[in-house]
Amino acid sequence: METSQEQINVMPRIGDIAPDFEAVTTKGNIKFSDFAKDKWTVFFSHPADFTPVCTTEMSGFAQRKTDFEALNAELLGLSIDSIHSHLAWVNNVKEKTGVYFDFPIIADIDMKVSKLYGMLQPNESETAAVRAVFFIDPNKKIRLVMYYPLNVGRNMEEILRVLEALQVSDEHGVAMPLNWKKGDKVIIKPPKNLDEMNDRLNDDTCERTDFYLCKRDL
Ligand code: BEZ
Repeated sequence: METSQEQINVMPRIGDIAPDFEAVTTKGNIKFSDFAKDKWTVFFSHPADFTPVCTTEMSGFAQRKTDFEALNAELLGLSIDSIHSHLAWVNNVKEKTGVYFDFPIIADIDMKVSKLYGMLQPNESETAAVRAVFFIDPNKKIRLVMYYPLNVGRNMEEILRVLEALQVSDEHGVAMPLNWKKGDKVIIKPPKNLDEMNDRLNDDTCERTDFYLCKRDL
């Protein structure tokens, strides 16, 4: 129980600056603070190489790499496996399916990075990272975190959707409603005082449910 509590205490949260680290990856050594300069980072963990769900997920990231690039985002994977295991798995999947994991995958054999990011959740597994995704902006601030258990794979459309939603929200100062996707109306900031509320009630440029819920096209 003590270990679990320690892990919970260090889990980085939304709004935190992503903890820095150095690591060995399939694309060479990295220092995170120097990684993906001026770009977003989608940093994700998987439980283990040569396992079925992980193979589908990693293939999904690899197959959508150009979509992440179009959103100015770099992919960074991690599992608690050796670099030799990573290389053998990348090569095996390429040989068997033609899909190449052309992004760095951290070999976190000493669990240093997994612990730093709360990816090791001992009540789920003491030796394998859960399926985490950290969305980290170009200022290295954590903007969204997903944690999935070992037995359920993630949804690539959702990962891309939230990345785009964060970026559109930043660019236009708006918020995204339920199930928002590119092209849908966005939510404009609710009024903060009575004058703004009365203005909003007379604003015919937005789709208004009431003063606090108004949508518009971008
Ligand atoms: C998998 O990726 O298939 C997997 C990994 C760890 C536990 C269960 C499933």
